Amino acid sequence: MEVLNGKHIVLGVTGSIAAYKAAFLVRLLIKKGAEVQVVMTPSAKEFITPLTLSTLTRKPVVSEFFDRRDGSWNSHVDLGQWADAMLIAPCTAATLGKMASGVADNMLITTYFSMKAPVFVAPAMDLDMYSHPVTQRNIETLTSIGNIFIEPASGELASQLIGKGRMQEPEVIVSALEDYFSKQSQLSKKKVLITAGPTYEAIDPVRFIGNYSTGKMGFALAEECAARGADVTLIAGPVNLKTVNPGINRIDVTSAQQMYEAAMEHFPGSDAAILCAAVADFTPAQTSDTKIKRKGEITLTLKPNPDIAASLGAIKRPDQRMVGFALETNDEFSNAQDKLERKNLDFIVLNSLRDEGAGFGYDTNKVTLIDRNGSDELPLQSKKDVAKAIITKLAGLLFCLAFLFMPFAAQAQELNPTLAINTSKIQGTDKDVFSSLESAVKQLLTNQTWTDYHFTEKERIQCNFNLVINKYDSQTGKMECELTVQSSRPVYGSTYNTTVFNFRDAEVDFTYNEQDRIEYTPGITPDNNLTAILAYYSLLIIGLDFDTMSPNGGTDILRQAENIAASSQSLGGGWRSFDSKANRYSIINDYMNGTLSSFRKLQYDYHRKGLDDMSANADRGRATITESLNLLSEAYQAKSTSALPTLFTEIKKNELINIYSSGISSERSKVVELLIRINPSLSNDWTTIMTQ
Ligand code: PMT
Repeated sequence: MEVLNGKHIVLGVTGSIAAYKAAFLVRLLIKKGAEVQVVMTPSAKEFITPLTLSTLTRKPVVSEFFDRRDGSWNSHVDLGQWADAMLIAPCTAATLGKMASGVADNMLITTYFSMKAPVFVAPAMDLDMYSHPVTQRNIETLTSIGNIFIEPASGELASQLIGKGRMQEPEVIVSALEDYFSKQSQLSKKKVLITAGPTYEAIDPVRFIGNYSTGKMGFALAEECAARGADVTLIAGPVNLKTVNPGINRIDVTSAQQMYEAAMEHFPGSDAAILCAAVADFTPAQTSDTKIKRKGEITLTLKPNPDIAASLGAIKRPDQRMVGFALETNDEFSNAQDKLERKNLDFIVLNSLRDEGAGFGYDTNKVTLIDRNGSDELPLQSKKDVAKAIITKLAGLLFCLAFLFMPFAAQAQELNPTLAINTSKIQGTDKDVFSSLESAVKQLLTNQTWTDYHFTEKERIQCNFNLVINKYDSQTGKMECELTVQSSRPVYGSTYNTTVFNFRDAEVDFTYNEQDRIEYTPGITPDNNLTAILAYYSLLIIGLDFDTMSPNGGTDILRQAENIAASSQSLGGGWRSFDSKANRYSIINDYMNGTLSSFRKLQYDYHRKGLDDMSANADRGRATITESLNLLSEAYQAKSTSALPTLFTEIKKNELINIYSSGISSERSKVVELLIRINPSLSNDWTTIMTQ
């Protein structure tokens, strides 16, 4: 998950008492794999020596325009091109002022002006300096051009006053950088079309029909998509806002008809569309070319405008996703559901004008996200945070699509299988039969495609089959074995893998003679127990994985595994006979028959809503995972004899310990209590969550 690995960071240090923390920052960045080049202002050297920082970075610190030793020029231009990010920490009020007003009188400021990469700023100053309108204005100016501020913390300051102005701790600063880089890759190569703001419908050259939309919500969505690496086309009605991110291509329009034409032109080339504009539903049937004179009563005849969302919904391809908004004053939920269906949306964002602080003009919004599986009511929060939640949901949908539509990618089998056969317990037999078995199993595992979906190499589920042969009867060809299956797949937006399913099946017996082939035909019950077992586990793993991508997404595939389990009982042991609750039949039956419906829901909530969010925002991801684990508890209560909840804790043991290596202690103790209840045999492991 080290998103900073290999990143080039220019660390600008200015003259503040917090400059000593630059040493910790450098160490932390280097520990995360980043390469750091320090640039200091002359006064920063009064607080920390260049020697300390150059020793830690193993690079000479740059501070002067010319190198004192040989007079060579220190190129701020080169630094601007080398960096993946510039971080100014601590940043004094003086440096902020110079940055905002263009006073390039030291190496740090010239580097800042040459910077091609994003700039992060961690201010450090006295509370009155920080809250001073000039400082706040400078911050606003720099934010408006895309600089990212890491707000200072409150606490005791160098002046011994207490208030806001303390530079954030190095861990918080580094995690802001990590957040940025991990988010950046989420929507890279995705094209998102967004409509925002109102439309104006001309009555005559000076009058129009319009509404109160300011475009704030739509612009926040555009910035959030661009921050996650998307190419954004923002079709904006008449608003008084600027875009910051250069990844946003803005098309200004005035009327609904113009917005419709621009949207229809750009939608076919987009992966997703977000329809946030408050489009006028009606426009004057006739527009006067001259100003209408005030001569008694006039009647305006209105004709309907095109419904942009519905028109895009009608031409939406299966590989595209659409998000709409619903602005309602009454019967909010049912009206929104109706629009979701009518406009062929994937989800809709419901605004109610009855909610204080929500809707037109405010910097805040209160929305409910509604899709065909349910709804998620969000609290009143800034439009920026609402945009984050909407884009996280959209990014999840686009990620799932990536699995299903890969027109240009070579189709790969869903599983990336490895096979190991251990024959060390079999003495004095001609081993050719085992080589033959190995190549027959490998052939099946490598060549079989289990579904119609297209996978790319990168998305395949790693799946290891380890077969230990305990007994072999060379007369009959009967083998008694133990099979361990382990599977994992990449976590969205990170380099980390999550376990899909691990299981040790102690009762695998079958008959195999040299040169036998192992073949599986979908829909037909295999006549050999080994084929049935291999098909069962392959389908189970793929089905479970699909369930993690969309709620109950693996149903069709899991039904095939269930059919195999139901019809293969007579082929050999292990379908029902070993450990009563952990046999192949019960595993699939418990999962599919509804008794453990909360466990099935957990698959989706834990992976898609929680785990995939960990790399973008660890605190939020962890909080969602904690919430999702309640479903595990519910499943355990519903059927404590089922193997599945316990199995889940075993499969996810290391993952859970890793996830809860940080986080608040009340969250950790809640999780530990839950895990001990479900799987007391791992108590020692769970308690490490509290102590690590
Ligand atoms: O811009 P702000 O001041 O920040 O305010 C934000 C907002 C309140 C405008 C925004 O959050 C919002 O709710 N936008 C949708 C407003 C709206 O027109 O809702 P609606 O329920 O009338 O329309 C339903 C959906 O159809 C919307 O996605 C809308 O964009 C779309 N539509 C509607 C009519 C039309 N002719 N064409 C459309 O595409």
